[in-house]
Amino acid sequence: MRKKIVAGNWKMNLNLEEGISLAMSVDKYFKDKPLQKSSVILCTPFIHLPGVATVIKNGKVGLGAQNCASEPSGAFTGEISAAMIKSTGAEYVIVGHSERRSYYHEYDKLLNKKTTIALAEGLSVIFCCGEVREEREEKKHFDVVKRQMEAGLFSLTGKEMNKIIIAYEPVWAIGTGLTATPDQAQEMHGYIRGLLKIKYGNSVAEEMTILYGGSCKPSNAVELFSKPDVDGGLIGGASLKKEDFVAIAEAF
Ligand code: PGA
Repeated sequence: MRKKIVAGNWKMNLNLEEGISLAMSVDKYFKDKPLQKSSVILCTPFIHLPGVATVIKNGKVGLGAQNCASEPSGAFTGEISAAMIKSTGAEYVIVGHSERRSYYHEYDKLLNKKTTIALAEGLSVIFCCGEVREEREEKKHFDVVKRQMEAGLFSLTGKEMNKIIIAYEPVWAIGTGLTATPDQAQEMHGYIRGLLKIKYGNSVAEEMTILYGGSCKPSNAVELFSKPDVDGGLIGGASLKKEDFVAIAEAF
């Protein structure tokens, strides 16, 4: 059965103490809930990872980073490798977030390299895709997402794809308060699953968790997650408040 996931992306927010405290309260909230392992994931800044790893104890909350280097190790000042992330106890890494694509010019080829190396180090990858506003207005959104998927992911084997979670995040909806309608989300998620089916066959496509991201909040999560191809969410702003984040997670 396809796994449902709600992942928080803290971005560059919260100091160490605030982050540990938020992780502790999220972990405590889910302690006695009947959840599968890592149905809730916290993607924290790098420096929070080891500390958060020690306070998420019940196995229901998983831990991830928001980025990783495209090289395994060496003279790359300021970079953090996938192996380093793994050594903190984290099991996930976000690759290809639109903020990395636009502010740090991370393009498809590099993202494919990051994905490949993260998988080789034993991490699961939350791979983000999504179009900007102009691309949607020009009705190029399907082509854009197809290109991002093909260039970023389609060099992987079917077996490697089992370690991928896809997050569709229309860039125009991220942090803007504008949310894709449930029908817009479903339309793209269905399209993505269709691409996976053509490339990898039914079983990879049906098993793939496809998250929606972009101004997801408690008030719209239920409707978004009720769509058949929306398997949860990647949550930015609303993941910084325990009440909002757990309310979104409760939506499925
Ligand atoms: P948002 O961010 O929920 O604040 O829109 C989502 C994301 O960037 O992952």
